[in-house]
Amino acid sequence: MINQKGGVGKTTTVINLATALSYKNKKILVIDLDPQGNATTGFGLSNADDNKTIYDVLNGNSNFEEAIKDTKIKNLKIVSSNVDLSGLEVETANEERRAFLLKDKIENFMKSEKNDFSYIFIDCPPSLSLLTVMSLVAAKSLVVPLQAEFFALEGLSQLIKTIDRVKEKLNPDLSIRGVLLTMYDKRNKLSSEVDLEARNFFKNKVYKTVIPRNVRLSEAPSHGTPVLIYDKNCTGSKSYLSFADEFIEQENVMESAA
Ligand SMILES: Nc1ncnc2c1ncn2[C@@H]1O[C@H](COP(=O)(O)OP(=O)(O)O)[C@@H](O)[C@H]1O
Ligand SMILES: [Mg+2]
Repeated sequence: MINQKGGVGKTTTVINLATALSYKNKKILVIDLDPQGNATTGFGLSNADDNKTIYDVLNGNSNFEEAIKDTKIKNLKIVSSNVDLSGLEVETANEERRAFLLKDKIENFMKSEKNDFSYIFIDCPPSLSLLTVMSLVAAKSLVVPLQAEFFALEGLSQLIKTIDRVKEKLNPDLSIRGVLLTMYDKRNKLSSEVDLEARNFFKNKVYKTVIPRNVRLSEAPSHGTPVLIYDKNCTGSKSYLSFADEFIEQENVMESAA
């Protein structure tokens, strides 16, 4: 989940897409790669806990597998984060392969018999820093949440430039899987304008599902729980359930095209 803008719905999307997919019996691992640890707290874990976080994995103090923690949701685990992670960029300044740090750890784990995850989601920080580049190198595909408000498309050219550069030099298979409109407000003309503009630019990469602005979605994190558990009938929950359907459907389309 990537977008260098903060507050566009990356973490909310990671938490609720992961939860919705876990309800469909998919095994999911979330990697919180934001030093703010919002995905961590959003699942009810502590971001003050400095025991075996993604930081410890990346600096070699813990192996990947040991850092995988349970959440209260069946089929859904997390590698948590805390503020220590913000030191990584400086601490690895002299390492040549530092852009590959995350990829190497994930790949090693994926080769082991311990991996039975259907999906690994990375929640990126709101920047185009080393952490985000590490995610671009490690990822197979990207979901870009776009807030359906003014300035939504600003900064996208910089994001796309970064993606293209990583693709060219470090990860040729990288692709944008889809663009998700978030915080959509039907009563606000701006939302439909951003919708139109995004579909003009990204064409069929923009998901049909749009995530409405929904107060339950913003309340759920303070209860340390995905909205699908907090209030399973609210419009926010329903929208993330349909997003999960569309997300899986993409694979059926890809398979039948192959
Ligand atoms: N669809 C939505 N409706 C209402 N509030 C939302 C919605 N999506 C996210 N939020 C709230 O907006 C804020 C930013 O969302 P978040 O997912 O943390 O963004 P990011 O990870 O991109 O910084 C959070 O307080 C979150 O609870
Ligand atoms: Mg976030």
